[in-house]
Amino acid sequence: MIDLRSDTVTKPSQAMRNAMANAEVGDDVYKEDPTANRLQKYCAELFGKEDALFVPSGVMGNQLCLNVLTQPGDEIICDKNAHIFQYESGSPAMLSGLSMNLLNSKSGVITPEQVEDVIHPASAYYMSRTKVMEVENTHNVAGGVVHPIKNIKALKVLADKHNLKMHLDGARLWNASVATGISLAEYSSYFDTISVCLSKGLGAPVGSIILGERGMIEEAFRVRKGWGGGMRQIGIIAAAGLYAIENNFNRLSKDHENAKNLANHLSQIEGIEIDVSQVETNILMFRPTTISVEDVIVKSKEKGLIISAMGVGIIRAVTHLDISSDDIERTKQIFTEVFNG
Ligand SMILES: Cc1ncc(COP(=O)(O)O)c(C=O)c1O
Repeated sequence: MIDLRSDTVTKPSQAMRNAMANAEVGDDVYKEDPTANRLQKYCAELFGKEDALFVPSGVMGNQLCLNVLTQPGDEIICDKNAHIFQYESGSPAMLSGLSMNLLNSKSGVITPEQVEDVIHPASAYYMSRTKVMEVENTHNVAGGVVHPIKNIKALKVLADKHNLKMHLDGARLWNASVATGISLAEYSSYFDTISVCLSKGLGAPVGSIILGERGMIEEAFRVRKGWGGGMRQIGIIAAAGLYAIENNFNRLSKDHENAKNLANHLSQIEGIEIDVSQVETNILMFRPTTISVEDVIVKSKEKGLIISAMGVGIIRAVTHLDISSDDIERTKQIFTEVFNG
């Protein structure tokens, strides 16, 4: 099977498994796991932040950051399709008592004008307190689109003007950085907190990293424990994260090339609507116009290709570490057959 449902389906390579098997470990609840400590230090340096914390998932990473930036009753401003709102089980409300102010945006790129329009004045004690602006880069639902740095800078100016905090859901910031050549540290410099996933394009089996000022990360360490996320000999999985960053970061350009190649092919097939210019990284979205999404999924699966539906009438395909150029050639053939037969 060629599995293009997500970049989370990758399996650890033998070399990554070796790194895991040989990892030095200790009890991380005592902060004594040398491999986790090494990963956190390495990431803090890579992203130019004071401190970093290894957490079990991207959801926990985002929610810990939002928690340490806010008080219950505060409000977060973000795009209406942001992962923190759509796909995190209502946890801003469940875990931190937060409300969300959702903006309609093109490709997840909320503009300073839109944001400024909905900021509650500090004097309005009867309104929720606007506290955090959130950006997702790359944006999943928008199809892996990179948030333009110029817009991020403008959002930061606005955040400073209104005393708002900035959180970055950088589950796929690695992809944005490889696609644009803008360093992880440059992206990070505009945000108070950042969450990045090790278990997406980088191919680690588990884990995310959050980054920020030392005091915030110290508080996140405390809250992580309270949420049941204190782990013991996590060097076993932290080693996979280290291996992933060192070996699988720069190769993401290959996934982007594969996605573009596939998108160009799909744009030639009658019965498919796709905006190739939106395929900037490893995710591609398209709309079948002559057969239903369900039929495309079933027929593709019969031929050895798995893809998934995303929203109404849209199919998502994601390239990743376990997809080769040959897999892409075979995928092109399968789509041609599904739409022509
Ligand atoms: C943009 C984005 N943020 C956060 C997450 C959450 O990651 P996890 O599934 O590891 O909790 C995902 C997962 O798909 C994602 O796409």
